[in-house]
Amino acid sequence: METKVYKIKRNAMEMEKIREAADIIRDGGLAAFPTETVYGLGADAMNPEASKKIYAAKGRPSDNPLIVHISSWEDVSLVARDIPGKARVLSDAFWPGPLTMILYKKHQVPKETTGGLDTVAVRMPRDEIALRLIEASGCLIAAPSANTSGRPSPTLADHVFQDLEGRIPIILDGGEVGIGIESTIIDLTEEIPVILRPGRITKEMLEQVIGEVRVDPGLMAEDEKVKPKAPGMKYRHYAPKASLVLVEGQEEKVIAKINVLAEELQKQEKKVGIIGTDETVSRYVGDVVVSIGAREDEESIARHLYRILRDFDDSGVDMIYSESFSSQGIGQAIMNRLLKAAAHQILEV
Ligand code: TXA
Ligand code: MG
Repeated sequence: METKVYKIKRNAMEMEKIREAADIIRDGGLAAFPTETVYGLGADAMNPEASKKIYAAKGRPSDNPLIVHISSWEDVSLVARDIPGKARVLSDAFWPGPLTMILYKKHQVPKETTGGLDTVAVRMPRDEIALRLIEASGCLIAAPSANTSGRPSPTLADHVFQDLEGRIPIILDGGEVGIGIESTIIDLTEEIPVILRPGRITKEMLEQVIGEVRVDPGLMAEDEKVKPKAPGMKYRHYAPKASLVLVEGQEEKVIAKINVLAEELQKQEKKVGIIGTDETVSRYVGDVVVSIGAREDEESIARHLYRILRDFDDSGVDMIYSESFSSQGIGQAIMNRLLKAAAHQILEV
């Protein structure tokens, strides 16, 4: 299958290209598209055969449910029942935007879309291309991140092409995404809502509008026995080919430690990658030294994270050392992804 890539000029919102992707989805096929978080791989959420194609294209385990993308609040009641008041409050505050809600599902939603669960994940994306695509298709769009299972989520159309070329008919290219890590997932089927995946909408932001919110204890746990509630969070995602170690501590000590470790490996003819920040990057000595963004602007760190992990796969390094980040605010989402990529290898200095 040939994979077409259509660049969409955002100021012109070229509807004819978006309509072509919408038609494919309405006919039961797949189309990749940008959202404000990461690129998604979309199919008609109410068509079980279409959902199955997503799993096949990504190589995704079939027990890992998909997120249903909608374009208006009214669509929620097409897929969910017993919708609590907090859902409307969260929608008013954060939709369209990078928040996914887990609600009890209506029986009309096929089990292929929800991985056999009695609940459904729903999100209204903010990206204009995504919203126009949902509207033009006349469907609710089931969409996981548009990467091959186990690779970092795509933040550029080119990442989607690298992973899915020949497996899907069309990619809408809307340029680099704005946020760079997947949506926050909040489970509203519990008495006290639970964050199943941290993201740009932080615990503090959620608590400001709906009161107490808990964080799934399975999330940051190193212990394999503490299973996260979102099936997708249990897989060793975002894993670069090289081993990744995070180094945590006072800035000067971290820089010194990483340089010593890098030098030792280089003496053994190993190629070393280093992830620093705008503030520190000039002080490292490695084979491939990159800045992930500015500590002053944590959003820039989230935006670059997956691209940097992908680039390291292409650079052939044997080992990667990275600075570590605070687990406050959006830092919680950044550290959740970095710790998984590092398989929890963290060195305190
Ligand atoms: O930002 C995002 O959410 C992106 C864009 C494309 O919208 N999508 C995304 O989808 O990250 P995906 O499939 O890569 O991640 C969906 C996560 C998985 O961890 C899955 O297990 C969880 O959502 N999930 C889906 N339905 C669920 C449910 N009913 N209960 C618990 N977790 C669920
Ligand atoms: Mg994903």
